[in-house]
Amino acid sequence: MSAVPTTVPEPATAAAAADTPAGARIVCDGLVRIFRGEGVEVVALQGLDLVVEPGELTAIVGASGSGKSTLLGILSGLDSPTAGLASMDGTDLAALSGRARLEFRRHTVGFLYQQASHNLLPYLTAIENIQVPMALARVPRTERAERARELLALLGLRECADRSLSQLSGGQQQRVALATAMANRPRVLLADEPTGELDSQSRDEVFAAIRAINDTYATTVLIVTHDAGVSTQVRRTVEIRDGRTAAEVHRRTVDGVEAVAEEYAVLDRAGRMQLPKTFVTSLGMRDLVRLDLESDHIGVWPTTPDQARGGAAEERS
Ligand SMILES: Nc1ncnc2c1ncn2[C@@H]1O[C@H](COP(=O)(O)OP(=O)(O)OP(=O)(O)O)[C@@H](O)[C@H]1O
Ligand SMILES: [Mg+2]
Repeated sequence: MSAVPTTVPEPATAAAAADTPAGARIVCDGLVRIFRGEGVEVVALQGLDLVVEPGELTAIVGASGSGKSTLLGILSGLDSPTAGLASMDGTDLAALSGRARLEFRRHTVGFLYQQASHNLLPYLTAIENIQVPMALARVPRTERAERARELLALLGLRECADRSLSQLSGGQQQRVALATAMANRPRVLLADEPTGELDSQSRDEVFAAIRAINDTYATTVLIVTHDAGVSTQVRRTVEIRDGRTAAEVHRRTVDGVEAVAEEYAVLDRAGRMQLPKTFVTSLGMRDLVRLDLESDHIGVWPTTPDQARGGAAEERS
């Protein structure tokens, strides 16, 4: 988060969007979201870039206020960007009309909140809750029951079908909420801190359920989490800092054993990137760094205050 004055990056143009990867499920290009109110402006997203391929399971991490929920709000079609592009399967979300937006929210994305109660109606049983989104989407009655039972079985909730919410544990309620979010078979599942209020066993069960959804239906999943346990279990973790994607960790497994975690910095269109804080502090880097272009990499060197001043003086002369 940062308060104004802030430089707002140039909005993405149609031409800029044209060279984004074909076939990507989610593309965010220079995404900006400014909240205005009572003389104060908050720049929640300031030029965020992100590409997610179909079927990926990605964790999004970042400090409180870094813009994670704002991003999910835009991707779910609930909110619109101030500038930049957010698209899903090539459809620009900002261009959706009222009717198309409703269809998008009903069929393309499913949303799982931190509190199961946001997804569920307390006076209905588990199986009735799962059928509500299908009824709104006019799915035939027999198919509704069939799909709901399939989801209950997949998420380990077969015995819970006819229980009311008060007869379910927190973890079970969250899995019913997950089934409800998946009822209309969305291509994308967005989950905002879905394990935030659960004990560790329930957390593992909910995460296993999300994984089962990703494996079975090849649903693309973005999961916002503070839970380090979750981010070590996914192949890709994206870190958001101050409204931008700043770094990524990719994990590879070899013969089923986690072998390597590689850290990457995100390089934006303008060539900007953020060095990890630990790298910067361990070499005492500040203000100016010296760059050397080699044949296959770029060297980044710390400078002494004298070197930095000398370099600046030479530039002027
Ligand atoms: N509707 C709004 N009106 C004004 N400011 C907002 C609004 N929604 C979010 N913000 C501000 O935008 C910034 C980013 O908020 P956001 O909720 O996206 O952060 P977050 O990364 O999800 O944080 P947390 O981890 O605490 O959930 C914050 O400074 C927040 O106060
Ligand atoms: Mg949030």
